[in-house]
Amino acid sequence: MAQRNQGWGQSVNPDDAIHNTSANDSFENVLARARVGRRGFLKGSSSLAAASMLGMGLAFLTDAVNQDGQVAKAATGPRLGFNPVAKSIADTLIVPEGYTATVLLATGDPIKSNVTPYKNDGTDNDFEVRAGDHHDAMYYFGLNRAGNGWDPQGSDRALLCINHEVCEDLGFIHPNGPTDYGPESTTPRPPLEIDKEVAAHGVTVVEVERQGSTYQLNRDSRYNRRITATTLFEITGPARRSPMLATAFSPTGEQTRGTLNNCANGYTPWGTYLTCEENWAGYFHRREEDSARTAKELASFKRYGIGNATSGRYNWSRAGAPDNTDLYRRWDTSKTGARADQDFRNVANTFGWVVEMDPFNLNATPKKRTTMGRFAHEGAWPATAVAGQPLVFYSGDDARNEYVYKFVSALVWDPRDATGGLAAGDKYLDAGTLYAAKFNDNGTGEWLPLTLSNPNIANYADYDFADEADILINARIAADAAGATKMDRPEWGGVNPVNGEVYLTLTNNVSSSSGRGVKTALDAANPRYYADEKGSRISQGNVNGHIIRWREAGGYAAAMTFQWDVYLFAAQADAGSDVNLSGLTDENDFSSPDGLWFSDAVPGLMWIQTDDGAYTDVTNCMMLAAIPGTVGDGQAKMVTNKAVPSNGDADQVVRTYMGQSANSTVLRRFLVGPRDCEITGITESPDGKVIFVNVQHPGENSTSATDPTQFTSHWPDGGNARPRSATVVITKNDGGIIGT
Ligand code: FEO
Ligand code: CA
Ligand code: CA
Repeated sequence: MAQRNQGWGQSVNPDDAIHNTSANDSFENVLARARVGRRGFLKGSSSLAAASMLGMGLAFLTDAVNQDGQVAKAATGPRLGFNPVAKSIADTLIVPEGYTATVLLATGDPIKSNVTPYKNDGTDNDFEVRAGDHHDAMYYFGLNRAGNGWDPQGSDRALLCINHEVCEDLGFIHPNGPTDYGPESTTPRPPLEIDKEVAAHGVTVVEVERQGSTYQLNRDSRYNRRITATTLFEITGPARRSPMLATAFSPTGEQTRGTLNNCANGYTPWGTYLTCEENWAGYFHRREEDSARTAKELASFKRYGIGNATSGRYNWSRAGAPDNTDLYRRWDTSKTGARADQDFRNVANTFGWVVEMDPFNLNATPKKRTTMGRFAHEGAWPATAVAGQPLVFYSGDDARNEYVYKFVSALVWDPRDATGGLAAGDKYLDAGTLYAAKFNDNGTGEWLPLTLSNPNIANYADYDFADEADILINARIAADAAGATKMDRPEWGGVNPVNGEVYLTLTNNVSSSSGRGVKTALDAANPRYYADEKGSRISQGNVNGHIIRWREAGGYAAAMTFQWDVYLFAAQADAGSDVNLSGLTDENDFSSPDGLWFSDAVPGLMWIQTDDGAYTDVTNCMMLAAIPGTVGDGQAKMVTNKAVPSNGDADQVVRTYMGQSANSTVLRRFLVGPRDCEITGITESPDGKVIFVNVQHPGENSTSATDPTQFTSHWPDGGNARPRSATVVITKNDGGIIGT
């Protein structure tokens, strides 16, 4: 999600609001300093069969199981083989010399051959058969030769699953912009507009076919379809049938309609797609008089940022006539009936989940897996599946001062389930344990179980958890109780296939009014709050963000402790050395890391994407290629946050641990996007010769939806066109492997 949003009336960007008022942050229970040794990591994890089922290269796997000493791949590693792209504020997508980027699928483009080309003037209403808006995460699922199932190495044909996070607030998809919307608006909206916005959310599945060195869309594929904010979903796992999920649509709490704010993603070892619901809380209407709720309900609304007297982001509950259908009423989470099955008081509890869908099975109802908890789910990133071991997924809750989570399945992985579809999901993703992370100030960390057997949760004074469903529905409150560490907005994560270390971007912690260090205490894992911008300090928080990483102590599932350090501090190259801590240069400086992804084709190659608002006077958002080292390859570091004298505050010095400084050999800018976009979402062909990258919301700072002179971007169509989000295909002109 972008940092600046227009068209929200007087609302606060959901990323800027703080809903974590817990006292967490104290480090009185600091662990012993003993660092976790490399030896022992992944012990007992040697299953070539399991990993080949995952489609991962045997080369890295051999490395991953050979944990005695430095792994061979890390020593020899891939090498970045392109000239860095310069920073740019041009309205164009720039890739390195020798590379070609081609638009594959932009907002509104037809996904069926019998659909008319998108006019991009707001008059096309059939988004059910067009690409949605605000492309975000995506994943490549190779099709087998028979064309009826998953082949991890399938390169001739593939299904791309593409998330559509929101529709542009400016209303580019309407002829004359939107009829008034925003949290303060009480103006009824035309149902046609609402229907179109609802359909522009969700997921697109499209088939792509190899054509020479690249891929093209197959608009005749039977797999092409849209999942939207009206699609039917099953609710599964411990919260299924909870009274807290009962609605007029599903009195038993077993189903809901729609997925919202699909941001980042994940995938499973059985070839299904995980799409994750991030800033869903802002979509719901609560009436001003909706105060006759239980104390627990009010605590939950508060913790997730659903205030009363709000119409929600798009005012979807206030359709003009005919507005009596529950298709619109369902966006009103107020208590209006005598019982929960007569209204939608609980509907917001049916959002905020990890959603599993099978791109190969058109008839399978997608499922909201409640085991992974309910929060602003950025994504769900799998650790390497190991036969005989539980499966592990890592998640971040992307809001200011929220937490990092780990899910461990109850059952152990059996590679024979690799073709199991959603039935395998039922087996592995409906039972397990959710943990929240505590980052200690000595460089170690702990996984805190979010269960009633955790006395901090069972005895929590501020909220009386009834059962496991209550804990998962209110995972934020459970993590408060457990004592998790408040982080600087967790975005994407990923597991380095070379050595099993886990990376996670902390995009920033800033708003116009306050930030970490101003109103939130600093700690070792989140040690910054000042940036140095053009010589004058700004005190808005951690404006540039950083990337944290950790090494589990003893295998993904079993490890209850880890060792962490800060892999990189983002900064402007011209910032002072107390801000540009990682030594970034013009070839690799960046701000606000968001997307992060490890290549499978090139083990050890990591991609970083940005969604920035702090450095955009110098450069548009970008993507960098990195060859990361290992946890502990740097040093302990005292970070000095120098005071702004006019603020009357004092220097704050915080001890942290950071990795080696960056240089152009191991970190290099690969791509710069068009104006006012964020770069988010990346996937690749199995041979690594084609990557797919998403450009989200170019022209987001435009001041009109209709007057081209007020657009800040016309990408990708050029001329006077309204800007559009799009998936681009990137190839190397010599047919080689991307990035190397
Ligand atoms: Fe949708 Fe946190 O990015
Ligand atoms: Ca972001
Ligand atoms: Ca993001």
